This record gives sequence, structure tokens and C-alpha cells, in this order.
Amino acid sequence: MIILSVESSCDETAVAVTRGREVLSSEIFSQVDIHALYGGVVPEIASRNHIEVISRLADSAVSHAGISKTDIGGVAVTYAPGLVGALLVGVNFAKSAAYALNVPLIPVHHIRGHIAANYIAYPELEPPFLCLIISGGHSLIVDVKSYTHMEIVGASRDDAAGECFDKAARVLGLGYPGGVQMDKLAKGGDDRKYPLPRPVLTGSKYDMSFSGLKTNLINLLHNAQQKGEEIDKPSLAASFAAAVSDILVPRTAAAAKEKGYDKIVIAGGVAANSRIRRDFEMVAKKEGFTLYAPPLSLCGDNAAMIGCQGYYEYMAGIRGDTALNAFAVKGI
Ligand code: KG4
Ligand code: ZN
Repeated sequence: MIILSVESSCDETAVAVTRGREVLSSEIFSQVDIHALYGGVVPEIASRNHIEVISRLADSAVSHAGISKTDIGGVAVTYAPGLVGALLVGVNFAKSAAYALNVPLIPVHHIRGHIAANYIAYPELEPPFLCLIISGGHSLIVDVKSYTHMEIVGASRDDAAGECFDKAARVLGLGYPGGVQMDKLAKGGDDRKYPLPRPVLTGSKYDMSFSGLKTNLINLLHNAQQKGEEIDKPSLAASFAAAVSDILVPRTAAAAKEKGYDKIVIAGGVAANSRIRRDFEMVAKKEGFTLYAPPLSLCGDNAAMIGCQGYYEYMAGIRGDTALNAFAVKGI
């Protein structure tokens, strides 16, 4: 079945055409340059820009896929979690499209979509597996039991890993979005120069915390400024990436081992981070896991991943109707 899919949960407007795991076209309009002026995403501006480009993007996704609109068998859309105003643009567009084409509407959870980016990249990958999703809004260790049945094993109790990279980049004067810039800056640095915390939480082996790490970096910078000391920025960025990775990688590997899985999957924008990828490759080699990490083009927000997950939701009987709403927060 051919699915038209829509993603508008944050600052990327995206529309794709997929058939199962096969991507026929994938269009993304990134608003990054617009929000960079403000140092972060401005929700109202995001919604307005989604409205302006979404129809044109859908037309071009259909034409690049080489199909006609009558070939579309379903419309999948991200309905949660994200910025509500932004989500509503996609949800209402998808409702109208499904109604006009007289095909089913398929609501898709954004985080499930990120996981499905790996189904596109690895045709042989099937659940069950352990997945770490690290994005601008979430850090989750998830037991993916089947394509549509999953359970959260661990989560950040405060900031998400991506948010933490973005804030660190901001105080280092690197601009928005900061994750990629932090990654680049860290390349020439000594990852052991600045000792940063790797907090352990009571109550759960797999829950995580990033806010203390972020505050530590901010305090370190301010103290240096007050004393007139020079900061070795590449080494600070490298030490920071090492700390984030040390919070994420051992927990994920331990959870996979406890669940008896030999497959570890990583997903989300922060899964593009070179230090985290390298550490996962090392732990996979050492402990005998097969690691699945999406290509960089599929780590960030896109609609192809929503279409791919939409296919599995559709097969599981999930349908939306004209009452479908958008939610800022929603369990996986
Ligand atoms: O999944 P995503 O595109 O959007 C959300 O669903 O949030 O993730 C965006 C996040 C941002 O915080 C961005 O700075 C971060 O992913 N990111 C990175 C890298 N590339 C993107 N963080 C660290 N290293 C990277 N290479
Ligand atoms: Zn995302």
C-alpha cells in the first residue's frame, strides 16, 4: 500500500510517499535558518511556516514519487508528541487529504517514527530489539517488542540529550541548532581534559539525568570567564560529548543484556553524534551486539519514517478519524 505521510512536530515540515519500507519520495523543508535568528524554535513561527509550505511539499512528494494521487492508499501523520500548534498543521492537512482521497487516516507517534527510520535503512531489521531514542525532546530506552507494542525501560528525568547539546552550544557561542556544531568542535579536543558528571539516579538503573551536566558546563564557563582564564573549547566539547555518551551507552547495553536482546538500535537527531556512534560500535563489538544506527539523513525529523511506521500501524488496525487531535506529550 502506498502511504502519503506528513511530519510537522517541530521545525521541519516534511511530506513523503512510501510503500512499506520503501521510500518513493521524501521532501523536507527545514526552518532552521528562520529559528536560528532567535537561538531556538519559536512555536508560533514554526506553525506559520508549516502552513505556508505544506501543500506545495505534498504536491512535490507525489510528483517526485512518480505516482498519481489516486494511487495513495492511506495518509499517515505525526499527531504527538511535539509543539501542539505545529502538530495541528500536519494533522489537519492529513485529515483533509485522507477525506478528499477517501482513504484511511493513520495517526503515528513521532518517537515510533524515529525507531522506524531504521526499518528503512535496514530491510532485514525486525523487532524485538532494544532501542535508544535520543532527540531534541526525548531520551528514551525502549523495549521494542513488536512493530506496534513497546515499553519504556528508562528515560531522562529532566532535559533531553539533544536539548542539553543545544544549551551547551549556546553558552559556547556556537548558535542554533547546536548539536552538530558541538560534534564538529569536539573533533580536535581532549575528551578527558574537563571532568564532567555522569549522574546515577536512585530508583531506576536505566533512567538518566542531563540537567546537572548542563549546569556544570555553564558554571565551568562562567568561573573561567570571571577568573579571566582561557577555555579550551574543543576539549570542553569533547569532554561534554564523552559525558553524554557515558550516560547513554552503558545503560542501553545493560538494558539490552537484561532483556536478552542481541540487537541494539539507536534513533533520533542525537544518534548522528559521532562520539555516541563510536562508543556504541565499541560496546557492540566487545559485547557481541549487532548495532543498527540510521544514516545521518534519517536521524533527524523526516516524513519517510512516519510513513514507514504508519504502514505497521495500519497493519495493526490503527485508524484516525476527523476527531484526531494533536498532543504535546503522549506515552509511546
Ligand atoms: O530528532 P530531532 O531531529 O528532532 C526532535 O525530534 O527533537 O533531534 C534534534 C536534536 C537537536 O537537539 C540537535 O542539536 C541534535 O538532535 N543533533 C545532534 C547532532 N545532530 C543533531 N546532537 C549531537 N550531535 C549531533 N551530530
Ligand atoms: Zn524528532
